[in-house]
Amino acid sequence: MGSHRSGGATLFALSARQVTKRFPGVLANDRVDFDLLPGEVHTLLGENGAGKSTLASVLCGLYKPDEGAVLRNGTQVRLTSPRHGLQNGIAMVHQHFRLVDRFTVAENVVLGHRKLPFRLRANDLEDQVGQVAERFGLPLDPRAVVGELSAGQRQRVEIVKALYHGAEILLLDEPTALLAPPEVEKLFETVRAMTQAGKSVVFVSHKLGEVVDISDRVTVMRDGRVTGSVARGEADTRKLAELMVGRDIDLSPRRSRGEAKGTLLSLSNVGLTKDGVDHIAQVSFDVRAGEIVGVAGVSGNGQRELAEIVAGLIAPTSGEVSINGERVNGVGTRNVRKAGLAYVPEDRLGTGLAPSLSIVDNLVLTRDRGFLVDRKSAHAEAEAFIAQLEIKTPNALTATRKLSGGNSQKVLLAREIFAAGNNSRVLVVCSPTRGLDVGAVEAVHKLLDEARSAGKAILLISEDLDEVLTLADKILVLYRGSVVHEAMGDQVDVEAVGLAMAGLS
Ligand SMILES: Nc1ncnc2c1ncn2[C@@H]1O[C@H](COP(=O)(O)OP(=O)(O)OP(=O)(O)O)[C@@H](O)[C@H]1O
Ligand SMILES: [Mg+2]
Repeated sequence: MGSHRSGGATLFALSARQVTKRFPGVLANDRVDFDLLPGEVHTLLGENGAGKSTLASVLCGLYKPDEGAVLRNGTQVRLTSPRHGLQNGIAMVHQHFRLVDRFTVAENVVLGHRKLPFRLRANDLEDQVGQVAERFGLPLDPRAVVGELSAGQRQRVEIVKALYHGAEILLLDEPTALLAPPEVEKLFETVRAMTQAGKSVVFVSHKLGEVVDISDRVTVMRDGRVTGSVARGEADTRKLAELMVGRDIDLSPRRSRGEAKGTLLSLSNVGLTKDGVDHIAQVSFDVRAGEIVGVAGVSGNGQRELAEIVAGLIAPTSGEVSINGERVNGVGTRNVRKAGLAYVPEDRLGTGLAPSLSIVDNLVLTRDRGFLVDRKSAHAEAEAFIAQLEIKTPNALTATRKLSGGNSQKVLLAREIFAAGNNSRVLVVCSPTRGLDVGAVEAVHKLLDEARSAGKAILLISEDLDEVLTLADKILVLYRGSVVHEAMGDQVDVEAVGLAMAGLS
């Protein structure tokens, strides 16, 4: 990490000085100071809704600050658009990509470059794009059609696009959110290649674990303000967690304290075969009242199918699923709910919330028609959840589409796990804390622990091994649709679990 000095003062590649940005009813950035050194990876860390994306958007020219200034190499720049930002060497890769699906990679990369010196032939263009991609270790086929690419590949297109247009400063907003672990490693290599080429990177994240690895410095935001800035070496996860949430965080293991009681959920020899392929094979286990059974595994090893079978969405091709002794093979969401099951799917946006409805209305959405909804108590309940889960929202009547991703997830969890009128005794939760920040993770873990103490039978399916290890009384490892390893939560051999997840046991 280098810093350019002139006249004894450090010259920053990019700075925010007392930046304030308001949205109706929200102070998203409150007098924020931020400095990025040349050649540095500087992480912007903070909980959902802390103001990270807003600051990055100000720095790249998408938003104009209400007050304060953006400085480029010590000189104030008044950016009027992202294009203007790019002319100043600043580019942002957004949380949600902005590519044209039917265009090729090369076309997307060059798009928006109005002043091409001459009309390039497609071949030359593809060569140039390929060269940029290769130089920064971003494997991409310039001729591929973007609509057919994975999330990781699309992200590479966005990065190559920024580099192709001469970006010296790259703002990556939650770049790892959609990536599988090996893709994250690849992205980190690219980030290193960029800083070695003298470029600077702002890395926006709410995941503590990964930022310690990649950052030269971490600046933490909370409620629109900067709460601290920590250099590499001084940044340990505990300290960062405190800066993020303003209090001590407890993510130590939580296990059942009492005896588990009778079996509420039972799978016996469950299999799912499609087109001659076994997606699930011979899976048998029980979940008892007052117990959390955790299913660990690398994503794509049958977790989704297993969850959907238990939730009654798809019927197994062999074996039996029963809730409280009642056979529920493929009976559908409504009936399985009646049998006592609550389900938090992995794909929360598609299935979970009605985005135009308020938090209060979403909480009562799945209640039985016969259940007379008392709005006053529903409102009070919503407010209790907002406080308990630290849901950032102007109030309980706010439409959930206005909440940040992590905060809407908390609303769904609150409804499925705890809402009054929810008499489910069996809970199936898939990656319940994916996308949540540490404070929220702690809150959700506490809630799941309470649900267990209240006698619910919980099946926790999560790609996050730490989460499974933290909560589960019993751990199953799913590999290619089969349970290949089983252990009690307090006697886990973590290495053995890791090997099993990789199919090496
Ligand atoms: N375009 C907008 N209109 C209204 N409010 C907004 C807008 N963008 C952000 N906000 C609000 O400003 C606050 C900060 O949001 P921001 O998106 O910067 O948070 P974040 O730290 O990026 O969170 P996350 O981790 O969930 O992405 C939030 O309360 C959010 O609801
Ligand atoms: Mg954001």
